[in-house]
Amino acid sequence: MAKTNTVFVCSECGATSPRWLGRCPSCGKFNTLAEEVVAPPVEKPTKKSVYSLPHARPLREVGYEKFERVSSGICEFDNVLGGGIVAGSLILLGGDPGIGKSTILTQIAANLSAKHKVLYFSAEESCSQVKMRAERLKLTCQDLLLVNGTRIDDLENELDGVEYCVVDSIQAVYTDDLSSSSGSVGQVRECATKLMRLAKSRNITFFIIGHVTKEGALAGPKVLEHIMDTVLYFEGENQENYRILRAVKNRFGNVSEVGVFEMTGEGIIPVSDYSGIFLSESRGEEAGCSVTPAQTGNRCMNVEIQTLITKTTFGQPRRMSLGIDYNKLTLLLAVLERRCGLHFSSNDVYVNVMGGIKLNEPACDLALCAALASAYLDKPIDRYTAAFGEVGLTGEVRAVQYAEKRVQECVKMGFKRVLLPAKNLKSVSKYADKISIVPVLYLGTMIKNLFPKED
Ligand SMILES: Nc1ncnc2c1ncn2[C@@H]1O[C@H](COP(=O)(O)OP(=O)(O)O)[C@@H](O)[C@H]1O
Ligand SMILES: [Mg+2]
Repeated sequence: MAKTNTVFVCSECGATSPRWLGRCPSCGKFNTLAEEVVAPPVEKPTKKSVYSLPHARPLREVGYEKFERVSSGICEFDNVLGGGIVAGSLILLGGDPGIGKSTILTQIAANLSAKHKVLYFSAEESCSQVKMRAERLKLTCQDLLLVNGTRIDDLENELDGVEYCVVDSIQAVYTDDLSSSSGSVGQVRECATKLMRLAKSRNITFFIIGHVTKEGALAGPKVLEHIMDTVLYFEGENQENYRILRAVKNRFGNVSEVGVFEMTGEGIIPVSDYSGIFLSESRGEEAGCSVTPAQTGNRCMNVEIQTLITKTTFGQPRRMSLGIDYNKLTLLLAVLERRCGLHFSSNDVYVNVMGGIKLNEPACDLALCAALASAYLDKPIDRYTAAFGEVGLTGEVRAVQYAEKRVQECVKMGFKRVLLPAKNLKSVSKYADKISIVPVLYLGTMIKNLFPKED
């Protein structure tokens, strides 16, 4: 028998080392290396034919591979996937414990079981717990197959004729090939690789649940993402009922798509009228808040940005940002300081985007500047005013994409005034009778417009 090889794997970044080290040479974290058994290398096939590639051919001769998409029965979920589930794909659903991953996948498994053979491989809960949940959610799924187990090698025997399989969760399963405990980087990676082989060889779609560790990375951090076809994150505050489903990787669709759900006693229901949930009730009363029509994937929604400015008590002014890139914040603070004479250098600045959504498009620059200026001048912005536009380092407001959709959304939400890049004016002038459109060429113009009495 071949000697079993072991390596030391960092539980944070997955880097390997032949010896134990106190500090991971790759990510610099201390005491994260753990010993793991290396699976024996796959014997190389010796026959020449196994290696032979198909002949290269020009693009025009390549046929289309048809991706058949199947609806999960939850429209928001389909949207995030890019229009439905692609057969034979590997979908990872990550999220904090208790966020509702098992709930939504039980619902989807039940929906799919009406027409397909679906297996729910539960490593965390017993079959009766899953049944109780299905009953609580009032799901009709008498044909849904349940199996309770933790050994991934056993799963293969249960897969005859199965088209969809839910694995709950990847951290709770293990394979005999490694001696380390379940949930370790090696186990997670090896189990996921096994599932990938099964998915591709037998054309089974796997939904894999993965818990997010305290640091926010999927356990077995990052080692899973490259294996998956689609990586979804389920986010939201446990106390609040809204949940956001976001794709961070998708081989079959757009990753900027988000799905909005509400967690109720009867399960997770998609929110089709998501407008207004990213706005606060009290906006317009306090300084430092502004609204921007943000485009995420195919949809546009009004999102509120809140900022707070306090006097710096320690030497170095603090900047903190949730939902908006930190570098973007510091950059725009510098632009406001230099181009508009608003001095933030002796102030701490805090930024938060309502509802836990992340804004990463340049079009939210103008609203962020408006919120910061409002906080600085301590003057609230009118409740029914929205703003969008990209801000350059010169203080110039640049045109953005989807101006028409954004203005439409503002009209729909009952906004009365929208500030937008002057270069976008032409495409939206037809809405002028429904909403007051304020074209802005420079950042200074916006500030004069919002706060007319300031110099
Ligand atoms: N009996 C119940 N009635 C209502 N809601 C429940 C019940 N049991 C669990 N929940 C809700 O479901 C959530 C757990 O969902 P679950 O899908 O098990 O999470 P995850 O699999 O992501 O850890 C809990 O946070 C709770 O809000
Ligand atoms: Mg669960």
